[in-house]
Amino acid sequence: MTSHYSVQDSMIIGSKIKLRDKRLADARDTYMWRTDPELAQLDATSLLTTTFPQYLSAYAAELCYPSSTKREFAIETLDGKHIGNCTYYDINETKGEAELGIMLGNRDYWDKGYGTDAITTLVNHIFHQTNLKRIYLKTLDWNTGAQKCFKKCGFTEYGHLVRDGFSFLLMEMHRKQWQEQQIET
Ligand SMILES: CC(C)(COP(=O)(O)OP(=O)(O)OC[C@H]1O[C@@H](n2cnc3c(N)ncnc32)[C@H](O)[C@@H]1OP(=O)(O)O)[C@@H](O)C(=O)NCCC(=O)NCCS
Repeated sequence: MTSHYSVQDSMIIGSKIKLRDKRLADARDTYMWRTDPELAQLDATSLLTTTFPQYLSAYAAELCYPSSTKREFAIETLDGKHIGNCTYYDINETKGEAELGIMLGNRDYWDKGYGTDAITTLVNHIFHQTNLKRIYLKTLDWNTGAQKCFKKCGFTEYGHLVRDGFSFLLMEMHRKQWQEQQIET
């Protein structure tokens, strides 16, 4: 699935959202989302137990010393409201692949097309700006809402994984599939 995509003033612009580098001012929202039990369950992550000051200090350190195998973005509405975060990580230049993750923390923006646009914009950005050939992700097998969204964006299923007591559906998109989607639309 394609969408409007452009880069302006280091913002990656989609149809309904913008992606930008994360900022210290995002830490409060992100902490709130990382300490929300329902979001942690949907994302198969453990609930954060650190205090906000501890979290803020780790967050600031990550901004100063970003990892070379991870790119993280804040997701904003076109009028600048921070509604979630997305990332590609475990970037493996040798294999030409990376894993994608997304979290719309603000529930008011669920099921209104923001997730589809954020994922599509991030995928477009990766395939336009890097040499990666494959993007993959894992989603809990019961998270059918997320799966529907990933399928709509062009991801296809390629397997299952059980890890740490969680059962995941594995999905992927190859550069070739993405190129074909660009031609079709
Ligand atoms: C999963 C997530 C990214 C989807 O983004 P979204 O903006 O809510 O989804 P969209 O509005 O773009 O929906 C795309 C399609 O999926 C469907 N969908 C999305 N969430 C759904 C849900 N919870 N249940 C059923 N269908 C759902 C939509 O109805 C839509 O289908 P349609 O085009 O036929 O109408 C977002 O809801 C989210 O971050 N949720 C919380 C955390 C999470 O589950 N993360 C994924 C971890 S792998």
